[in-house]
Amino acid sequence: MSDTQTPPIIKAVALRKDYGEFHAVKGIDFEVMPGEIFGMLGPNGAGKTTTMRMLSSISPITSGRLFVDGLDVEKEPRKVRDRIGVVAQHDGLDPDLNVRQNLITYARYFSITGKAAQDRAREMLEFFGLDHRSGSGIHALSGGMKRRLTLARAFMTRPKVVILDEPSTGLDPQSRNRVWEQLNRIRDAGATILMSTHYMEEAAQLCDRLVIMDNGEILSRGTPDDLVMEHAGSLTAVIRPNNGNGLAVRSALESMGKVVRDRGASMVVHGPEQLRGELGQIDNATVRFRISTLEDVFLNLTGRELRDE
Ligand SMILES: Nc1ncnc2c1ncn2[C@@H]1O[C@H](COP(=O)(O)OP(=O)(O)OP(=O)(O)O)[C@@H](O)[C@H]1O
Ligand SMILES: [Mg+2]
Repeated sequence: MSDTQTPPIIKAVALRKDYGEFHAVKGIDFEVMPGEIFGMLGPNGAGKTTTMRMLSSISPITSGRLFVDGLDVEKEPRKVRDRIGVVAQHDGLDPDLNVRQNLITYARYFSITGKAAQDRAREMLEFFGLDHRSGSGIHALSGGMKRRLTLARAFMTRPKVVILDEPSTGLDPQSRNRVWEQLNRIRDAGATILMSTHYMEEAAQLCDRLVIMDNGEILSRGTPDDLVMEHAGSLTAVIRPNNGNGLAVRSALESMGKVVRDRGASMVVHGPEQLRGELGQIDNATVRFRISTLEDVFLNLTGRELRDE
């Protein structure tokens, strides 16, 4: 990304999607560079899936332009489809076929057949840790295995770009970690990943850069660390007033010039490292400090919590 000459592999310009009177995506701009994991972080209804559906040319663009690998998605949808692998929010695996057959059948849509398809399926099953399940029925797989199989399927065509809509939603922590490891390996192997998520931890762990979306708009963009520094500061103080002292504690903080936000029974104040000294001795409250996260960024940008949606 330091090379400013490299063209983006995905580029959206004033991209808009209306459903009748409803504006689902409100003229967004973003660029994804080759080889990065680029995230779209936002709550339900932010417009993540809608944007991805336009990229996969499943859903027509209302206005604006969209390019993949220099190709205009509206003008050359077939060529674009050959370059991307899509993992949708719902798996779409064929329950009548076993694990291996799901991969082979998918590859056939892209004219990959015979030995090439079989070799590729074997390679992908191994990569995604499913080689011991190649003959299993889909119904016999765990949620994590199904997700890994949908990743394997998307990779059957050796796509330059992979679009992942919420790769780990609904998975238990162990399966999620496994999917994260594999996404990192995919990136290390040179693929570009565009992924959506509403888990701030997933975005923080995986994404090189991300956009924070809400209600069809991009609110901010950058690396996870830069976003935290810009919108929250490195430290978050979680202040829990003693019984009956909520108002007094709040006004004490406000008189220090702090922006106080409610978070459940606690108040939070964001800021730089100096916060520790400034707020260490607040009367009638317990103060705890922690590292700020993208959750704090979202709270500061919208006044709402990401996970509440
Ligand atoms: N076919 C449709 N017709 C009308 N409105 C739609 C349609 N598809 C999506 N929307 C609306 O567009 C908005 C954006 O939806 P989208 O599915 O892109 O959100 P999202 O960010 O993917 O959310 P989630 O985290 O729930 O998957 C929502 O308000 C949704 O109700
Ligand atoms: Mg979605």
